[in-house]
Amino acid sequence: MIEVHHLYKSFNGQGVLEDVSLQVKKGEILVILGESGSGKSVFLKHLIGLLRPDSGSVSINSWDITRMTEQELLRIRKDMGYLFQEGALYDFMNVFENIAFPLREHTAFDAETIRMKVYNILKLIGLEGVEQKYPAELSGGMRKRVALARAIILDSKILFCDEPTSGLDPLRSRNISDLLHEVAKKLHCTTVVASHDIQNSLRIADRLALLQSGRIVAFGTPSEFKISSNMFVKEFII
Ligand SMILES: Nc1ncnc2c1ncn2[C@@H]1O[C@H](COP(=O)(O)OP(=O)(O)OP(=O)(O)O)[C@@H](O)[C@H]1O
Ligand SMILES: [Mg+2]
Repeated sequence: MIEVHHLYKSFNGQGVLEDVSLQVKKGEILVILGESGSGKSVFLKHLIGLLRPDSGSVSINSWDITRMTEQELLRIRKDMGYLFQEGALYDFMNVFENIAFPLREHTAFDAETIRMKVYNILKLIGLEGVEQKYPAELSGGMRKRVALARAIILDSKILFCDEPTSGLDPLRSRNISDLLHEVAKKLHCTTVVASHDIQNSLRIADRLALLQSGRIVAFGTPSEFKISSNMFVKEFII
C-alpha cells in the first residue's frame, strides 16, 4: 500500500505540489489526471524517491521513503517498476538487452533464465520476434511496450507509469492502456499512472485523482467521476 501525507514541493519559490494526500490500495490502479504542468510527473517522482518533498511523507508498505538514504532507496526501488514519460530505452542496446538490463543489474540469474524471462515477457506484451531490433527501428507504440516490459521484468508488485499513451495514435493508446491494465491485474501490481488521456484513464483506473495547480480537486472511481458535479472534472471530462 502507498500512503501520501500532506506533500508539499516547490521549485524556486513556485509551489508545484500543495498539500497532496492520498492512498493507493494494494493491487489497485490509480490514475493521476491533470493538465500539462499540473505536477503529475513531479508527484510520481516523489513516489519513487527521485525527488524529495519540502514537507510531508510518502510511505510504501509502511516505510517512509522520504527519510531513506540513497542506498536504502536503491534497495526499495528494486521492488518498483517505473515507466518514464519519455520511454527512456537505451538506444545502443537492442530490445532483448533493454529488457534484460534490470535482471542483469539486480539479480544473479544465469543467462538461460534471463533469456527465458525476456522471451516470456515479449510474448506477454505481444512483441515476439523484435528482440534483435534497436529502439530507433521501432514505432512509438512498440517502444512504449518495450519500456513497459522493462518496467515489469523484475516482477515488481509496484508499478509507476508516466504518460503511457503520450505520442501515440488513438488505437495504439487504447491498446497500450489495455495491455497495462491486463499486466497490472495479472501480476497484482499496485499501480499509479500519470496521464492526461481521460478516456483511456476512465477505462483502466480503479480510482482517479484529478490534480489542479498542485492540489487534488477530485478523487473517486470512474463512475463517480463521470457523474461528478465538480466544474473542473466536468470540463476535464468533456
Ligand atoms: N526539476 C525541476 N525544476 C524546476 N521546476 C520543475 C522541475 N520539475 C518540474 N518542474 C515544474 O513543475 C511543474 C509541474 O511539472 P510536471 O512535469 O510535474 O507536470 P506534468 O503534470 O507532468 O505535465 P505533463 O502533462 O506536460 O507531463 C512545471 O511547472 C515544471 O516546470
Ligand atoms: Mg509529466
